[in-house]
Amino acid sequence: YKMDSARNKCVLLTGGAGYVGSHTIIPLIESGYEVVVLDNLSNACKGDNGQNPIPITQVEKLVNKQVIFYDVDLLDYNSLSKVFDKHLFCCVIHFAGLKAVGESCINPLTYYRVNVSGSINLFQVMKEHNVKQLVFSSSSTVYGEPQFLPITESHPVGQNLLNGYAKSKYYIEGILQDLCNSDKEWFVIILRYFNPVGAHPSGTLGEDPTGVPNNLMPYVAQVAIGNRPYLNVFGNDYNTIDGTGVRDYLHVMDLVDGHVSALKKILNSDEHGAVAINLGTGKGYSVLQVIEMFSQISGRKIDFHIVDRRSGDCASSYCDASFAKKYLGWEAKRTLKEMCEDTWRWQSLYPQGFSTKK
Ligand code: WQD
Repeated sequence: YKMDSARNKCVLLTGGAGYVGSHTIIPLIESGYEVVVLDNLSNACKGDNGQNPIPITQVEKLVNKQVIFYDVDLLDYNSLSKVFDKHLFCCVIHFAGLKAVGESCINPLTYYRVNVSGSINLFQVMKEHNVKQLVFSSSSTVYGEPQFLPITESHPVGQNLLNGYAKSKYYIEGILQDLCNSDKEWFVIILRYFNPVGAHPSGTLGEDPTGVPNNLMPYVAQVAIGNRPYLNVFGNDYNTIDGTGVRDYLHVMDLVDGHVSALKKILNSDEHGAVAINLGTGKGYSVLQVIEMFSQISGRKIDFHIVDRRSGDCASSYCDASFAKKYLGWEAKRTLKEMCEDTWRWQSLYPQGFSTKK
């Protein structure tokens, strides 16, 4: 069966209309894969009168190829199974899930239903269709409060996790480990993202959060473009270079290249089991350093107010990415400057994002 899957190059992207998912379609198609996207559009901009969602249409323009899209929810077992009846997938890249940290503290059950039960449905349908190769979108939040830096894959996981989002990712990782232990045909690569930011350099695709952005970069971009008066800086009394939080920002195009490397690893090797890999630059930047860089590249003043710390935040988080280099032959190449430039180009072309529902 391995031979079949290696020969056929049809990949399913769950959550493929989302920020990282939609960007991933581009290098996959450019590498000769056929891409099928499944998304319930709970966090992506719907197209007009039954058209494909806008991020998919934008990607089709970029790659000049049609992308097969299904408006399907992972919790809808039968519809999900029908998609697998129609296509012989060599691999699944599982992006679909809710990811707002604050919201997950308010609605934990929703996060466990969508993220964990949705994933269990997916893995069950994959098993029934003998599709046992998976790239899973996980998060550095499974490490909890860093006990040492830089964070390697041997750092403990699942300890003092502060929110339902982080726990849902941790639980799904555990389910995948158990699945692989129970059936040696599974090969799963778990990618632990640090902080994805930026946009495709064309500026026609980008992070398009609905409502008030939770994350730093989209918020800074909206201040720069004039949609928001100022940024709240959540604390400047951390033990860091300038007192503000330090994070490992990773350009989304580097991140998606990591997924293509993981896919190629899966299709070209006879390994089995689940392996977790950090995807980050290994460099940390503070909030003030990001503000300064963004202001420089945009030529706009970024007003900010120092306010109280945000609960659940840690002072510093950045990774040791040497295992990704060794195991996948992958390393991040794009700089913070490029992350800001590409974000700014997107924000300038689409001041209101794709949707008017801001
Ligand atoms: C970065 C820094 C904030 C907003 C989270 C999730 C992670 C992933 C990325 C989902 C911190 C500061 C932020 C603002 C600020 N999400 N900040 N003002 O918290 O490192 O990671 O988002 O996949 O799983 O945990 O990212 O961008 O929210 O914050 O001062 O308006 O910017 O305190 O130091 P975070 P972030």
